[in-house]
Amino acid sequence: MKMTEAKFVQGFIRMANDGWEQGWHERNGGNLSYRVKAEEVDQVKENFMPGEWKPIGTSVPKLAKEYFLVTGSGKYFRNVILDPEDSVCMIELDETGENYRIVWGLANGGRPTSELPSHLMNHEVKMLASGGKHRVIYHAHTTNVIALTFVLPLEDKVFTRELWEMATECPVVFPDGVGVVPWMVPGGREIAVATSELMKKYDVAIWAHHGMFASGEDFDLTFGLMHTVEKSAEILVKMLSMQPNKRQTIMPEDFRNLAVDFKVTLPEEFLYEK
Ligand code: 13P
Ligand code: ZN
Repeated sequence: MKMTEAKFVQGFIRMANDGWEQGWHERNGGNLSYRVKAEEVDQVKENFMPGEWKPIGTSVPKLAKEYFLVTGSGKYFRNVILDPEDSVCMIELDETGENYRIVWGLANGGRPTSELPSHLMNHEVKMLASGGKHRVIYHAHTTNVIALTFVLPLEDKVFTRELWEMATECPVVFPDGVGVVPWMVPGGREIAVATSELMKKYDVAIWAHHGMFASGEDFDLTFGLMHTVEKSAEILVKMLSMQPNKRQTIMPEDFRNLAVDFKVTLPEEFLYEK
């Protein structure tokens, strides 16, 4: 099967384009990766032309021999739909989980996203925590969440609670809350370690003054998660722009009642008295 005819490749392309249309991917901002299923690898194997092994820049032994579809470094999300073979690549990891090689894509040269260490360390953590279900890691430059990182204290419990209060569906969509990484130099192992540490607890990590990482089982769930958090942030930005204080809001007891009806567990650490 031609690479771009495979359903998982089409899902990847659609998600990249949806993110572009949301305005989260100025220039080459953001990146996306998908851990490919063994049967999907088999569908497209005939297209592979393996390149040279290169160091990932970190170690992900539990992901040894896995395949990933990843956006290229410096590539624009707006171009993915027009020419996926130029913007995206499929990589294979070696048996140590320390090296990768491109097996398809980036037809005009290039390398996988500079955030590959963060993507792969997050994949490793989420794959183990979800019993193999999580397959998508998404990094976007979401405008309203970034704006809030200049205004709110950079604490998990403050971001979680404020985002939950902005839309009733939020605690149902991200009941575990969101984590916050303080400002760090992007693209390396250090920020990857800090992010993947938070991903043990959350499906969302905010990078102060930069953007967000989200993890999920498939393209719909992961895009939907990013969209829900960013929409909630947009409401908070609008609210704070009208007046500094809420006249009324969803109270801790309301969240507890919601948790019962919607059968989610909401950690008490986020239901503090203000
Ligand atoms: P890449 O173009 O290398 O994916 O980098 C974009 C980005 O958002 C870095 O954080
Ligand atoms: Zn970024």
